[in-house]
Amino acid sequence: MILVTGGAGFIGSHTCLKLLEGGYEVVVVDNLSNSHTESLERVKKITGKDLAFVKADCCDEKAMDEVFSKYNIDGVIHFAGLKAVGESVQKPLEYFSNNLNSSLVLLRVMKAHGVKRLVFSSSATVYSADNTMPLNEECKTGNCTNPYGWTKYMSEQIFRAACVADPSLTVVLLRYFNPVGAHPSGLIGEDPKGIPNNLMPYVSQVAVGKREYLTVFGDDYDTEDGTGVRDYIHVEDLARAHLCAVSYSEKSEPGCEVFNIGTGKGSSVLDIVKAFEKASGRKVPYKIGPRRAGDLATVYAGTEKAEKVLGFKTEYNLEQMCRDAWNWQSKNPDGYNK
Ligand code: NAD
Ligand code: UFG
Repeated sequence: MILVTGGAGFIGSHTCLKLLEGGYEVVVVDNLSNSHTESLERVKKITGKDLAFVKADCCDEKAMDEVFSKYNIDGVIHFAGLKAVGESVQKPLEYFSNNLNSSLVLLRVMKAHGVKRLVFSSSATVYSADNTMPLNEECKTGNCTNPYGWTKYMSEQIFRAACVADPSLTVVLLRYFNPVGAHPSGLIGEDPKGIPNNLMPYVSQVAVGKREYLTVFGDDYDTEDGTGVRDYIHVEDLARAHLCAVSYSEKSEPGCEVFNIGTGKGSSVLDIVKAFEKASGRKVPYKIGPRRAGDLATVYAGTEKAEKVLGFKTEYNLEQMCRDAWNWQSKNPDGYNK
């Protein structure tokens, strides 16, 4: 059985679906601080399979110990975490406390119960700003520009150190680039609370009429059209990467390995606007605003290592990402609040 922490969230719910389809048994632990159990109800509906759900905080060692005692867990995917970059600047202690303690508690409870395999949600944000593109796993990390980034950087260090101390432990660190899109059924997707921080959910809400226009954060970058370039990856591809990581962890030598999970291709803000207009048949009005502090001009992944070692290659293109994001948004204009 696989324990999926944060499994009710955006990436977690899509991964639970893939795990169930892949024949794994799943138990989700989530404190629902940024999600609804409705996502898991819909995962069950799509797959016709059941999963276990425990409402608990991953920082609560007693509760986690009970989960490990009750279920026969042989691997963990650790999604649980706070993820809003701007909020992390306002509430650094909450971010360090939640994101680091959850990793520490998990490692302690895994050790107590003899569980040896973990996949961790890291982020491209751990890379320093002074690398050249594409980013590969050897590129410089650190010098993060916000507390959220530091929590991912520090969690990586914690997992590496734990693997050195316990040579029977296997940890797979996945550095995600920009996850977007939704399951093609339109039943599960991204449901941000309040004003979305990220581009694709913001664009979706403009297209559906919830917001008037998009503000493009700067059009004077050194990129083809002057707007920021990122490596957007369909959440379906990203979810599948977790299955590749789980099966890799079942076969590999113990230790800590890190992989970029992206497409290797960059798209600009205006590319996204155009692709979304095409997919939705709606206009996405936008205004050019100033740059957002901390943003880089261009970020995209080197994907060779994931391809060679995990056997992972993305399948979805930008058009499909926008089509599925729109399908979800138009069928669920208020997200899981229906
Ligand atoms: P999400 O907010 O939708 O999912 C995270 C889930 O974790 C939520 O369901 C939340 O309720 C839960 N959670 C948070 N703290 C918890 C705790 N202490 N105990 C139990 N549950 C807790 O976010 P997501 O986009 O699905 O991201 C999943 C993971 O991937 C996060 O760790 C995030 O930092 C990382 N990540 C996300 C992105 C992105 O752009 N979405 C990029 C890189 C990395
Ligand atoms: N952007 C806009 N307007 C908006 C929102 C975003 O123009 O309203 C632009 C940004 O300036 C950037 C691009 O759209 O050029 C993408 O921005 P996002 O906020 O969607 O994504 P980021 O690349 O800034 O960061 C995201 C996550 C981080 C994660 C990182 C991984 O928010 O948590 O991807 O690469 F670490």
